[in-house]
Amino acid sequence: MNILVIGGGGREHAIIKKLKCSPDAGSIYAMPGNGGIARDAVCLAGAATDAEAALRYAKEYAVDFAVVSPDEPLVQGVADKLREAGVRTFGPSAKAAALEGSKVFAKNFMQKYGIPTARYEVFDDSARALAYITAQGAYPAVIKADGLALGKGVVIAADFAEAEAALRRVMEEKAFGASGNRVVVEEFLSGTEVTVLTFTDSKTVAPLVSSMDHKCAFDGDEGPNTGGMGVIAPNPQYTPELAAECMERIFRPTVEAMNAEGRPFKGCLYFGLMLTAAGPKVVEYNCRFGDPEAEAVLPLLETDLLTVMQAVEDERLAEIGVRFRPSASACVVLASGGYPASYRAGFPIEGLPAPDAEKVAEQRGVYVFHAGTAFSDWGAGKPLVTAGGRVLAVTALADDLPQAIQKVYEAAGQIRFQDMRFRRDIGRKALAFGNAERPSF
Ligand code: AMP
Ligand code: GLY
Repeated sequence: MNILVIGGGGREHAIIKKLKCSPDAGSIYAMPGNGGIARDAVCLAGAATDAEAALRYAKEYAVDFAVVSPDEPLVQGVADKLREAGVRTFGPSAKAAALEGSKVFAKNFMQKYGIPTARYEVFDDSARALAYITAQGAYPAVIKADGLALGKGVVIAADFAEAEAALRRVMEEKAFGASGNRVVVEEFLSGTEVTVLTFTDSKTVAPLVSSMDHKCAFDGDEGPNTGGMGVIAPNPQYTPELAAECMERIFRPTVEAMNAEGRPFKGCLYFGLMLTAAGPKVVEYNCRFGDPEAEAVLPLLETDLLTVMQAVEDERLAEIGVRFRPSASACVVLASGGYPASYRAGFPIEGLPAPDAEKVAEQRGVYVFHAGTAFSDWGAGKPLVTAGGRVLAVTALADDLPQAIQKVYEAAGQIRFQDMRFRRDIGRKALAFGNAERPSF
């Protein structure tokens, strides 16, 4: 089967590396891909949101199966357009992707169906939002732009001044364009965060191994929010009892309610959960694999990914078992200094494994996924150069979390580029939890 993967980050590299292992995979194409993905797939020029280009390539390269991976093309309906053109596709319809595309939709949906989440109000006027926050007098106050905002649309305001500044930026200065026409103001939830990715065909829900993202830029959870600086999986706080509770009170009700809304969800449904004293609550839904959660979790998947993705699209997920290796995984993101604010790029990357060495490393459970690396004449001996904030995601699998962490930092230590920066404490919080040596799923 010829496969087209839409997207070009570390998550898409993890998907492509996994698809490549499938006995049924023929040629794999990526639009747009990146410098590192070019080793594993044929990269095709075009923005991930360019549905016309995707359709053209699907025809030209006799694509049998497409994977629409990032949020933007999903919310814009690229998966719908591919399906309408007769291309079997993994990824939700635009109607289903609204769970991520509109926080207002997601919150109203959860309220309507009794799915546990933070209390909230919706505003289309910044003065009213501010008056509400003032009347509540409860800080921190959580303010969320309704639409997609490159992962930057959530502000945890510590006081009135921060809330006022956030509302001005989002609703008046329109820092995220129309995404800030409405905001959700919600209750701050205390607890531990857990990410659970699930495969669902709208009938069956198959959770992947749980994980813990590290969103802050610096060690000790300091600094601004990023797309994610590292992940460990499984998340030791997510016990089998919690998994059963989440399935019963959150995962299955979400999928069933989406059917009731006439928006059946087929694809990867991401549950961002807060484990609170009052039980698990939904912090956010995403309509896709997390990035970098995918880079930590997909290497643990034992079942053939192409088989799973086809079963999702064909609504046969109940017929297959989705199995994982009982190992621990740790992923560290190597970023450009300055990220998530401005940074410099174009620096050569040293210490990347050559193709043969890479194969050996992967057999040992060490993976280097490329997020922001530029196209270059890599094969002809020219080094790859940096081209993004998050440059590489290095993942290691081992029997337990302490070993996975040691292994991933050894592997990351081989790689160098100017201004390179990474967190040195990925997994520390999970280890402190105590039973990290006994991974739970
Ligand atoms: P979101 O994009 O909705 O996931 O928000 C980004 C991050 O902000 C989350 O991963 C949480 O760390 C934090 N966050 C969002 N909503 C809340 C909330 N109601 N209470 C506490 N933290 C939150
Ligand atoms: N790592 C968080 C996300 O993908 O949304």
